[in-house]
Amino acid sequence: MSITTTPITPDIDLYLEQMFSNEDDLLRQLRIDAEHQGIPSISIGAVQAQFLSVYLRSMNAKRGIEIGSLAGYSAITLLRALPTDGHLYCYERNPEYATFLENQIAKAGFTKNTTIVVGNATETLAQFPEHETVDFIFIDANKEAYADYVLQTFPFLKKGGVVIADNTLAWGDIAKNDVSKTVTSLQKFNTFMKEHQGFLTTLVPLGDGMTIGVKL
Ligand code: DHB
Ligand code: MG
Repeated sequence: MSITTTPITPDIDLYLEQMFSNEDDLLRQLRIDAEHQGIPSISIGAVQAQFLSVYLRSMNAKRGIEIGSLAGYSAITLLRALPTDGHLYCYERNPEYATFLENQIAKAGFTKNTTIVVGNATETLAQFPEHETVDFIFIDANKEAYADYVLQTFPFLKKGGVVIADNTLAWGDIAKNDVSKTVTSLQKFNTFMKEHQGFLTTLVPLGDGMTIGVKL
């Protein structure tokens, strides 16, 4: 019996990958094609992806926002967890990544379920459709703007909806002192979520960690 978290050793990491990933040929090919296009290989991992699928299905999520879509690995994962009339708003700053993303979403058969917004999300989120509400917000973009993204999307998030933010273990540095501006931003973000009266928050240590807050 233990109250400490069991460390994820390389053999356990491999075990998780072999047991709890359902990455298919389309997503495997997406990773390869993205790399050929020069898009950074920083998508979420397959184990994180399956966690997100389980989580969104368990909450019957129908509509969501993704901030930082990159090549579309997580967008396709999220879309697959939604019902056939579900919808995902994808915010991506880089126009070349957005074109790649659009093609991948078409290939996966989700064009009708997706709105892609190109530009800096802190600016483009201001035009989010009036009266639209969402069940989740997945954040995987500029680490220094995470708290701003939450503040901007909070009005659209339903009660019982969730914010899920990637990289909140900050590549292993989250508990350290004297760290980079990016890591400091992630530390501040975790504190912001923990102290926000509108959320009940946890951190799931899968991949590089996901901070998850449910709107109260
Ligand atoms: C980086 C960004 C990510 O979102 C991630 O999951 C891994 C790495 C990066 O900017 O290096
Ligand atoms: Mg990430």
